[in-house]
Formats: sequence, C-alpha cells, structure tokens
Amino acid sequence: MASYNIGVIGGDGTGPEVTAEAVKVLKAAAEKFGFSVNLTDYDLGGERYMRTGETLPDSVVEELRGFDAILLGAIGHPDVKPGILEKGILLKARFALDQYINLRPVKLFPGVECPLKGKGPEDIDYVVVRENTGDLYSGAGGFTLKGTPDEVAIQTSVYTRFQVDRCLKYAFEYAGKHGKKARGVGEENTLALCGKTNVLTFVYDLWERAFHEMGEKEYPDIRRDYYHVDATCMWMVKNPEWFDVIVTGNMFGDIITDLGAMTQGGMGIAAGGNINPEGVSMFEPIGGSAPKYTGKGVINPLAAICAMQMMLETLGQGAAGARIEEVVKIVTGTKLKSLAAGRMGYSTSEVGDMVAEMVAG
Ligand code: IPM
Ligand code: MN
Repeated sequence: MASYNIGVIGGDGTGPEVTAEAVKVLKAAAEKFGFSVNLTDYDLGGERYMRTGETLPDSVVEELRGFDAILLGAIGHPDVKPGILEKGILLKARFALDQYINLRPVKLFPGVECPLKGKGPEDIDYVVVRENTGDLYSGAGGFTLKGTPDEVAIQTSVYTRFQVDRCLKYAFEYAGKHGKKARGVGEENTLALCGKTNVLTFVYDLWERAFHEMGEKEYPDIRRDYYHVDATCMWMVKNPEWFDVIVTGNMFGDIITDLGAMTQGGMGIAAGGNINPEGVSMFEPIGGSAPKYTGKGVINPLAAICAMQMMLETLGQGAAGARIEEVVKIVTGTKLKSLAAGRMGYSTSEVGDMVAEMVAG
C-alpha cells in the first residue's frame, strides 16, 4: 500500500480551519482509494513569531525536505508587519525547497457565480504556470539615503537562462499532457507566454527567445501564443476561452492569478501548488489568512480541499484526485448557495464533512 508522509502547516488566521477540512477529506480519500498518510503538524506563523521571534527555522526546512508533500493553510497576521512572515515563511519555503513552479488552475466550477457576463465553465478552464523563484522576488535591491528627501529605492527583476528554461520546459510538458487537445476539448495544445517585451526589454526578451527556441526545437506540436501582461488581463476578462496554458514570470504570475481567481469564483475556491518536479512540493489555497473570519467557522474550505486534490494528483493518486474534483463540482453545483465566507449556507466543517462523506461513499 502506498504511504505518504505529509507536512501540514496550518499557519495563520483561517489557515488552520481550512487545512483541517482538507485533512478530513484527505483521510477519507486514503481510506477509499487504499493508500495511507502520516501527517506531521508544524506550528509556524504569526503567533509563533510573536512568541519566539522565529519564522521558518532552518532545522524545520531540513525536516520539510523529508516529506512527500506539504499542505499549507495561509500565512499573514494583522499584528505582524507585512513582509516578515511572507518572506520569512512562505517565500523562504518556496526558495529553500526550490519549488520553482507555481501551478495555478483557473477553472470555473458548475453553479459558481462568475463575475464575467455570459461566461460558463466551458469558457474558464485554463492554467497559469507561474515561475516561482526569480523576478522581483529575488530580493535584489536596496535603499540609499533612506529616510532623506533624496532616498533611492531599487528592486530588481532577476532571471537566469537556467530559471527560464526549466520553467518553460515544465510549461511545455504540462501543455502537452494537459492542454485542450490532450483533454479532448480543443484542436490544439497551446502555451501562451505572458510578458512585457515592449518595456521590459531585457527580462522578457530572454523569456521570449527561450520560449520560441525551446518550442520550435522540442515541442513543435504545441501552439505558441504571446501576450503582453496588460493585454492578458484584458483577455482574461473578455475572452478567457482563448487560454489554455499560460506561462509567465513570478510577478506577473502573482497578479494575473488573483484576477483569474476572481473569475473562477474567488478565493473560496482558488488553489495552487508550489512545485519542485524533482523534490518536495507544497500546496495551498491562494487566498490569504482572512483574519476577520478567524474562528467563526464561516470560511470556505474548498480552496484548501482543491489544493489537497492537486497534491494527490502530483503524488500519483490520480483516481482519488479525480473523485475529489467531481465531488467539489457536485457541492458547488448543487449544495452551496455561494462560495463567499458566511454565505455558503453551511459552516466550514459542514462543507468539509459533506465532501469527505461523498468521497468516502
Ligand atoms: C501568493 C501570495 C504571495 C506571493 C505573498 C503572500 C508573498 O500573494 O502566493 O500569490 O506574492 O507570492
Ligand atoms: Mn498573490
């Protein structure tokens, strides 16, 4: 029987609540599909930071390396200055574990209210492959004359050919396996590069050259499109059905996936995976810690459940993953009144119970 060691970081705010529901469903899936899970909880986040000054200790990073996968709730605390926990925990984990892909599906499920007029589940069904280690996230930069009227602040977007190539390779492979043709819903598998070659003439020049070189040489059957990031936002709203797989740098990927999340019904449902294809990956709902809903039992756990579902697919438990997705669709399509916190018609744990029971049944 396959057995997986999973690290669980509930984190801040509503993170632990939604993670508990994901774990509930994970256990039901393990039972049903015949695999086992050993879970190890980590107490990381704002409370621990305020108590001990620690964010993500190096010793914990070493422990995290040993897991088959990591499930993360949310990071961010209202009493901690923005940036400390994000950099100290989330970004540190992504960098230290070299999770160089951030895979973010934008998928509208049945019954989910979509803010885009006239668009349904067949129109909003694509994936963003966000590079997850470089760009403005590299930490390069600094101040001079800080606090004076002549202050200068610099934050540098950094990409190496190696980072770009490994991300593109993942994206082309992904488009070949999961693109619209591969899924039987289109004529072609398409990979679109989202860049800004008209202004960022160094970094996105590198991306564009690497994209076409690799595509032409190694993936001639995958159609290549290019969009500037501002136009990408426009088409994500106006013609989302044009997209299949989008690959982009870290900063644009961060921004366009929040836009994508809103078009798929919001933070209650949007999930992502920080993936190291050769190492340990970490899965998380892409919404934040939602402090104002903490402990009220009103937050939607489906995003965390979908993150766990992505984790199972990555671990090779495809049947369990497919079943969970099916059940989530039934729940959004026929049960929940809304995906918004407090308006689901069910509590957080009732949603988790419902999904777990249907997965088990
Ligand atoms: C995300 C988040 C993070 C990011 C923050 C919390 C550091 O917005 O996962 O998209 O910018 O990557
Ligand atoms: Mn973000």
